[in-house]
Formats: sequence, C-alpha cells, structure tokens
Amino acid sequence: MDKFVIEGPTPLQGTIPISGSKNAALPLMAAALLGNSPTTIHNVPKLRDIYTFNNVLRVTGARVDFDEESGTLTIDPANISFLEAPYELVRKMRASFYMLGALLGKYGEAKVSLPGGCAWGPRPVDLHIEGMKTMGANIELEQGYVIANTEKVLDGGIYELDPSSVGATINLLLASVLRASEFTIKNAAKEPDVVLLCKALSNMGAEIDGIGTDTLTVRRVDTLTGIEIDNAPDRIETGTFMIAGAMHPKSELTLTGADPSELGAFPETLRKTGAEVEINGSTIRVKAPDTLKPVSIKTRTYPGFPTDLQAQWSTMMTQAEGDSKVTDTIYYDRFSYVPELVRLGADMNVEKNTVHISGKTPLKSASVMSTDLRASVSLVLAAMVAEGSTDVLRIYHLDRGYEDLEEKLSRVGGNIKRLDQDA
Ligand code: EPZ
Repeated sequence: MDKFVIEGPTPLQGTIPISGSKNAALPLMAAALLGNSPTTIHNVPKLRDIYTFNNVLRVTGARVDFDEESGTLTIDPANISFLEAPYELVRKMRASFYMLGALLGKYGEAKVSLPGGCAWGPRPVDLHIEGMKTMGANIELEQGYVIANTEKVLDGGIYELDPSSVGATINLLLASVLRASEFTIKNAAKEPDVVLLCKALSNMGAEIDGIGTDTLTVRRVDTLTGIEIDNAPDRIETGTFMIAGAMHPKSELTLTGADPSELGAFPETLRKTGAEVEINGSTIRVKAPDTLKPVSIKTRTYPGFPTDLQAQWSTMMTQAEGDSKVTDTIYYDRFSYVPELVRLGADMNVEKNTVHISGKTPLKSASVMSTDLRASVSLVLAAMVAEGSTDVLRIYHLDRGYEDLEEKLSRVGGNIKRLDQDA
C-alpha cells in the first residue's frame, strides 16, 4: 500500500493539464451497452475507478479496449450474454450500479449488487429503484442483489426525485431510452455529467426533451447506435487545482484543457478570497493573494458549490485570516478529513453538517490518514503548506479519482514522493 511523503511549505508555480472526468466518463461507459454497435470515448483518464468499471463491463461479455496512452476507450456490446454486476466489483465502486439501468434498458433484465456502505453517510439507491418501479419495471431485492425485469415496452409515467440525484437521474435515463413510451423525470439532476450523457444518448438516437433542465422527458426508440464522443475535462480536478493555486501566498497556477463553463459559481466564489482567477478559453490562471479572506460556503446541486470541493475549500480556509463556515447540504457527514487536519494543527470543529474554521493557523507536519477520494486530496493540499514532512497514508483512495497527481504537483514545484507505506 502506498503513501505520499510531502515536504512543505512549497509554493506551486507553473502549468497543469486537466485530465478527463471520472464522473462524466462512467455514465458514458454504461450508455455504450445500449448501442447495437461499438462506442468510442476519448479523453478517458487512467484511474482505478475506470479500470474497475472496465471489468464490470467485461463480466457481461462486452469487449472493452482501453488505449491508456491516448485515453481512448472502445466498448463493443455485441457479445453481451451475462446480465449481472457482481458484489465483488460493485462494492469497489458505487457507480457500477449504473449497470442496472443499462442492462434493464437494453435486455429487459438485470441482476446487480446493491452498492453497500461508503466512507461517509448512508448513500441509499432507493430513488433509482422507486423510479424504475414507477416506469413499470419489476424489482426484487434478494441477498443483497437487485433482480429486475421489464416488458419490451413500458408505459412510463412521471417520477419526481427528492432529493435531486445525479446517480438516479443517470440510471433512469439508461433504463428508459429503449423501454418507456413516455417517462418524465422531475427534479432531475442538472450536473454537467448528466447533460453530457443526455447528449451522448441523443447522438445514439435517443429522444430526450429538456436536456440541461430539471425536467427530462424520454420517449423510447427501438434501437440505439454506437457513437464516438469526447469525454469532458474533470471539473472537480479543475476546482481542486484552483484551490491549490490559492493556498500558498507565492503560488500561481495555470490549468490547461479545462472547461470553465462547467464550474458554475465556483470561480466567482474563489475570487472572493482575494485570489486572482483569470479565464481564457480552456485555460484558467489562479494567483494566490498575500492574505486569504475567509469565505463561507454551502454546497448545493449544480450549478451551486459542489460537495466534491467542500473538503478542499475547508482546507484552504484554515489558511484564511478569520473565521468561516462550510456547510454540506448534499451529504450531512462528509467531514472525515476534519480530525486529520486538526492533527496538522488546524482549528476547526464540526457541528451537524457544518464545519467551523478559525484561521489563519500555521500547519505543522504529521502522519494523516486518507478516508475517501476528496478527503484525501484535501490532506495533500494541507501537507503542501504545512511545515515539515507529512505522510499521507492509504492514498489508494486518491488513485480512484486523480490521474498522475504526484507528477502534476511535482511539475509545478510540489515536493511529493510516492513510497510503499509498509517499506
Ligand atoms: C454523484 O454521486 C458523484 N459520483 C459524487 O461524487 C457526488 O458527490 C454526488 O453525485 C453529488 O454531486 C459520481 O458521479 C460517480 P447523488 P451520486 O445520487 O450519484 C441522496 C466523487 O467524489 N440519494 O446525487 O451517488 C444521497 O444520499 C463522488 O467523485 C438518496 O437519498 O450522488 C445524497 O444525499 C463522491 N437516494 C443526495 O441524494 C438515492 O437513491 C445526492 O446524491 C440516491 C441519492
């Protein structure tokens, strides 16, 4: 098992290329199963979650070719015969649950493991299941598996999500485009990953109204055709590096290959800290202020402040002059990073779904433990400005969602090494 050893404090200066998005690629990969010919996705990142999903697809009999060098992934559904997603794989990555919508939508039956627990909070899939039942599917739960089947054509109906859910919107789209005469999803997620999936399905021949809005109406078609599509740049990776560029007073980063239009209110919120944020096409330049101003945030569904950036924001706020609050309205207890930052000397405490932060507190090196993807990258950001040598343990969490993290940070002056934790 690997760890990072990070020497700090180090300013970050230079250029970082943004990778393809994990959360946008996964639904596209599931959608490929719906086609009657191969689909090719470009700009797919080399991440553990992508490899896991490649194996989930291969278990069904799909042919999956991943050219890591060019980031090109081709999925051929021609030989699919095993309509299952096993627990061994689904427990590694929740998004494998998209197989329920894809297999049910294409073949009218599916056996998919329930995702199981997560590092933070209950993350139920009740909306996915209730939505499919509303559409007309038969769904049973048996020994930790969802057993589903449908008629060839379903009436459909209207299903209102509460709360709005990215995953449920994706699964209901996958299940309905070939099945439901007319199915409307109300309070649908508007995240860019959902919009890209809708565009991909439309390019495959699907009929979807209301793309980009919170009301999506699907009318089934008989067949869908494989396509070639560009995956989106990773907007959460982009936000993470923008925060990294604002945390040390001498830092200045340029991010290339980004899509600023997918960042919602985030750039403006970052400017409120005093950071310079310059956007020029797909290039974003961030220059840290001499003194960071405290800015409190509340996470929201898109285009509000993304929950996947709240840990990184809280970390930056430990270096701001003054008090701030970070409230997560999407996940009520996504704060497993707080005790680790306190180990580095941060002054912060959690009350219900809000973390209260007092800054500026000089951080000092210590050993800290990763718990989940975004929590662990916040520990890397903290270690970059902490005095001394910090060990960030269990970084396999990071490898799930950040491509070449240590190479990218080293390239801009970060002093970060990957070592075998047990050596
Ligand atoms: C997606 O997860 C992302 N994952 C998450 O990013 C992200 O945090 C989340 O959306 C919110 O933006 C991927 O795209 C693979 P939700 P998802 O369904 O789809 C509740 C990362 O770091 N809910 O929108 O699982 C749920 O508990 C990951 O890359 C139900 O109650 O999130 C939460 O409170 C972590 N019942 C809220 O809805 C359901 O059936 C939003 O969850 C489904 C969800």
